[in-house]
This record gives sequence, structure tokens and C-alpha cells, in this order.
Amino acid sequence: MQNENEKKTVLITGASRGIGKAIAEALNSSDYNVIGTSRNIEAIPKDDKILGVRYLPLDLTINESIDKLIRDVGNIDILINNAGISQVGPIEEVPMEKIREMFESNLFGLIHLTQGLLPQMRTKKDGLIINITSMASRSPVPFSTFYGVTKAGVEAFSKGLQNEVERFGIKTVVIAPFEINTTIPQEIFLKENSPYYDITMKAKNIRDKNLANAPDPSIVGKLVLKILKSKNPKFFYPIGKNGLIKNFLITHAPRKFIKKQTIKRYY
Ligand SMILES: NC(=O)c1ccc[n+]([C@@H]2O[C@H](COP(=O)([O-])OP(=O)(O)OC[C@H]3O[C@@H](n4cnc5c(N)ncnc54)[C@H](OP(=O)(O)O)[C@@H]3O)[C@@H](O)[C@H]2O)c1
Repeated sequence: MQNENEKKTVLITGASRGIGKAIAEALNSSDYNVIGTSRNIEAIPKDDKILGVRYLPLDLTINESIDKLIRDVGNIDILINNAGISQVGPIEEVPMEKIREMFESNLFGLIHLTQGLLPQMRTKKDGLIINITSMASRSPVPFSTFYGVTKAGVEAFSKGLQNEVERFGIKTVVIAPFEINTTIPQEIFLKENSPYYDITMKAKNIRDKNLANAPDPSIVGKLVLKILKSKNPKFFYPIGKNGLIKNFLITHAPRKFIKKQTIKRYY
């Protein structure tokens, strides 16, 4: 156990539940000061609040909320951009304002927060930024395409970040979960009498079942701990049931094969 002054400080966005909470739990029991965020700290059930974690408010869709966190948070050694939302709906029917809203929380807010914390990491020539994407960034889940698009944006952003800031001692890591058993809300967007209704709901139900049978978020907590202990972490970590194999196939198999498998899995 480190003494308080030697402990590194980790900021985890979206630590009220799911993967963010699991990461906070894994790090809190170790050698880190953990700061976790939520849009509504008062609404976090008592049992879900982790003793020792400092909770601060953050809404990634509101610029002032991000700027306030950047001002209030103090010294951060490790930033874990975890917070995010998901949606379900056909490309033709998801309202543009809802697509923009998801880009705000999953991509633009993440960029804004990262920009704001980079100067302190650059000045001390030390830092680690872990961005939680999704395997959907490489192969979008049917009728959840825009989610995959935001996550592909985060992966590209992470590559650009690594190109630019490694020289200042700042490391960049991407964790791409496949399916993890959380209660991530999935707002559904379907127009009245939609020709996509049956197929969208079928894909959603299959996805819900897959999530319910997926590994516990604690596996992501353990992975983050391993990355933090590693001197030279890799850039990309897929995680989930058969995550390595699925990533290999999605990355290397012909598009025709992946499309066929995706349709077989969800339709
Ligand atoms: N579960 C999976 O299978 C899976 C797979 C691939 C990737 N992921 C990614 O993993 C991350 C965590 O997902 P999860 O499954 O743990 O979901 P979750 O249980 O719904 O947790 C999401 C967290 O994000 C926060 N959040 C949501 N909208 C926000 C906003 N506008 N501003 C700030 N915070 C916000 C929520 O906090 P409050 O509601 O308290 O504000 C919550 O703590 C997400 O980026 C997700 O895309 C998950």
C-alpha cells in the first residue's frame, strides 16, 4: 500500500454503475486515489457508492459541466473516459437531435474533457488516458449503428492522441468491450408503422439476452488494474467472451464473412 502522497489519482467518468463502478472498485482497493463522476450523485443508491471514492458531478453533454470538473478536479494522473450511452433504432428513423446527443456524450464530451486535462499531464510529463470504446466501433451492431460510429470516432481520436502526446510522457490506451453484463440504457427510436419495427426489436431482444449472459463488469476492472501496473501497456485491449478471437476475425476476416455472421447473430 502506498502512502497518500505517493498514490496516483485516477478520474473515472461514469462511475455510478456498470463498468465505471467496477473499475472504481478495482482501483479503490489498491494504490490509487479514485475520483468518479455521475450526472446526479444524490441519485446513486447508497449500496452503489464506494467508500473512499470521491464523487464529482459531470454531464458530458453540457460544456459548463465539463469546464467545472476540469477546474475543480485538481491533479489527475490517469483519466479513464468510460461514460457513455447507447441507442437502438434504424438509420432511417433515429432523429438527428438524438444522434447529436449521443455524439455529445460519447465523443465530443470525451474530447472536451481530455483537452482540458492534457495541459497538466503534459507539464508534468506523465499521464495515462484510457478510452473505453466498444467492439461495435469495428463492427456495428445492427440498428445501433450510430453508437458504433461514436465509438469508431473515439478509437480514431485515441490513435491521433497517441501520435501527438506520447512525446510528452502521456500514454494512450483503448479498451474495447464486446458484451458486458450491465444495465446500459438503450433508448429505442422507431417511427409509427415502421417497416423496421420487427427486425429492430428482434435484434434488440437478442442483444438484451446476450448482455444478460455476458461476463461481469469486474473483468474490465481487473484489466484496468493490469494496465495500470504495466510499464508498457499496449494500445488496444479487446475484452469480453472470446474477445481476442472476435477482434481478430472482425479486423482480418473478409467483410462478406463478417456481414453474414452479424446478420446470422441478430436477425
Ligand atoms: N455493457 C456493454 O456491453 C458495453 C460494451 C461495449 C462498450 N461499453 C461501453 O462501456 C462504457 C460503460 O458502459 P456500461 O455498460 O457500464 O453502461 P452504464 O451501466 O449505463 O454506465 C454508464 C455510465 O455513464 C454515465 N453517463 C451516461 N451518460 C452520461 C453523460 N451524458 N455525462 C456523463 N456521464 C454519463 C452514467 O452515469 P450517470 O447516469 O450516473 O450520470 C453511468 O455511470 C460505455 O462507454 C459503453 O459504451 C459497454
